[in-house]
Amino acid sequence: MEEYSSIGFDHIPHAKGADRSLHIKWSQRNRPLGEKIPPPYPNGWYALAESVDLKIGGVASIDALGQNFCIYRGEDGAARVVDAYCPHLGANFGAGGAVRGNCIECPFHMWRFGENGECTYIPDTKTIPKVSLKTWHTMEVDGAVWVWYDAEGRAPLWTVPPIPGIDAWGYRGRNEFVVSTHIRDIPENAADASHLHTVHGLSFMTDLGKRYPMLNKFVGYHSWKSHWSRSEEWHIAQLFIEQKFFVMKLNIFPLNVSVDQIGPAHVRLTFNSIIGPMVVVQTVTPLGPMLQRVVHRVYSPTWNAILVSPVALVEALQFERDVVIWNNKKHVSAPPYVKADKSIRAFRDWFAQFYSAASVSMRDATARPLDW
Ligand code: FES
Ligand SMILES: [Fe+2]
Repeated sequence: MEEYSSIGFDHIPHAKGADRSLHIKWSQRNRPLGEKIPPPYPNGWYALAESVDLKIGGVASIDALGQNFCIYRGEDGAARVVDAYCPHLGANFGAGGAVRGNCIECPFHMWRFGENGECTYIPDTKTIPKVSLKTWHTMEVDGAVWVWYDAEGRAPLWTVPPIPGIDAWGYRGRNEFVVSTHIRDIPENAADASHLHTVHGLSFMTDLGKRYPMLNKFVGYHSWKSHWSRSEEWHIAQLFIEQKFFVMKLNIFPLNVSVDQIGPAHVRLTFNSIIGPMVVVQTVTPLGPMLQRVVHRVYSPTWNAILVSPVALVEALQFERDVVIWNNKKHVSAPPYVKADKSIRAFRDWFAQFYSAASVSMRDATARPLDW
């Protein structure tokens, strides 16, 4: 896992010294949010945990989206998400709570709450008061447990079917980054065609070509073509990428990537190249208004299992280049768009669908980073 202070701060004075974290903190404190920054928590599905980390009977507390969640897996195998705090006297289920059947039991006075949040059992008490624990809509797909977050309190506006045929494939590994930026910046990257050349053009192996362009011929460079568009389904946007990796003018690694952006925080990238297919699932979880956990999980058929990890590594290295930009940028609400930016404008229109009247503003969210 890459913590956010590890990438993109070497340009800060004294960042290489012993007080690195202090200097990074100061520089982040001076960083403006930018004008008219959109609300930090769009409506949609968010990955709260990876499926493998939540065994039957497992309980965890997770802070995300300005909420404190408790997530647990009942004996029937289904994952559930409820508010972290017990409606009795406010204990946190994550701190010692237990799963009983499909109920969650509080560690403090051992009240139990059922799947719909109703109190089902209180030790030595016959008359159970009408209290209920808030439950959240949950789904499990693409190796993660998701929560439906909606500022208006609506039921899920879409569902996500599994990737066809993925059951026959295997899990090949993951990477994780914590990035300090607005959530919208991450999917906006897909619509930003020109940054592919400027940020992702240099060889994945080295940045040296920036200083010595002569070297690019030998260490290679990436060339990109991309096309972003809305899809027929309102909550899905699509991106097609054609990548070529030239060494001595020879395209030694042609790669096509077809990307589905599903809502604000879920991406499926299907890679096709000479080593065969692989799928990368990207999840973005807002840990705070300006702090995103980004996880990539890699899947492929058995036959190319050993071939996919170098490609996944290159993907991670390219992602790090975006992280350097994200960790240090501010928000610009009305950029001086040029022709190459036309998809960015279209992307922002598309993304606006995930906001609604009650979306918590950035100002309110930063004043009260968690809902206390
Ligand atoms: S605080 Fe949870 S049972 Fe009392
Ligand atoms: Fe990028």
